[in-house]
Amino acid sequence: MARRVAVLISGRGSNMVSLVEAASGPGFPARIALVLSNRPDAAGLERARAAGIATAVIDHTQHPTRERFEQAMDALLVEHGIEFICLAGFMRVLTDWFVERWTGRMINIHPSLLPLFRGVNTHRRALEEGVLIHGCTVHFVVPELDAGPIIAQAAVPVVPGDTEESLAARILVQEHRLYPQALRMICDGTARLENGRVVFSNDWDAGGALRSPSP
Ligand code: GAR
Repeated sequence: MARRVAVLISGRGSNMVSLVEAASGPGFPARIALVLSNRPDAAGLERARAAGIATAVIDHTQHPTRERFEQAMDALLVEHGIEFICLAGFMRVLTDWFVERWTGRMINIHPSLLPLFRGVNTHRRALEEGVLIHGCTVHFVVPELDAGPIIAQAAVPVVPGDTEESLAARILVQEHRLYPQALRMICDGTARLENGRVVFSNDWDAGGALRSPSP
């Protein structure tokens, strides 16, 4: 049976759309049962509605504390029978209470090769540091920001003349492939959290390398 997944967004929701599209394919072990935004004006809400997905807004500015905001989210997620949460451009820091309630069942996509460049402005910082390979990571969420066990990563070259925008666009293409892959892995049990580590039940090809500059 397909797992019931909620996608939490704050903005345009392009990763959410990639998850919705993947989950609508035959045999995918998850279905997107709810798209939840903390911002009423998130553009992704309209995109979710257009795809026929249930949407909800829990506006953090309408709650006196972070805890009350999260209690409202948690109640709604439980009401919708949600089993897994995907954070997709959800720009609120979550408390330990919420994170611990969803341990092993909540994942996030981050626009860098973690543990490099936790936090914001990842592409700007990658350019400042002069790294020649950059990328994105899907990881289980733990209380420490962007520090959770890694499920999947994708790398891209950084090339001369790159800007924050060109790099963001190159990585976003990979995010849209990586996130559905990672969601599939946690929903079909190929990747699971055990004692703070990700355990994989399959193997994969160790051949090849991404070189930047390419030879
Ligand atoms: C994505 O690039 C995602 O990796 C990033 O926000 C963007 C959301 O785009 N997430 C973070 O920075 C989380 N710290 P989207 O709304 O189009 O999916």
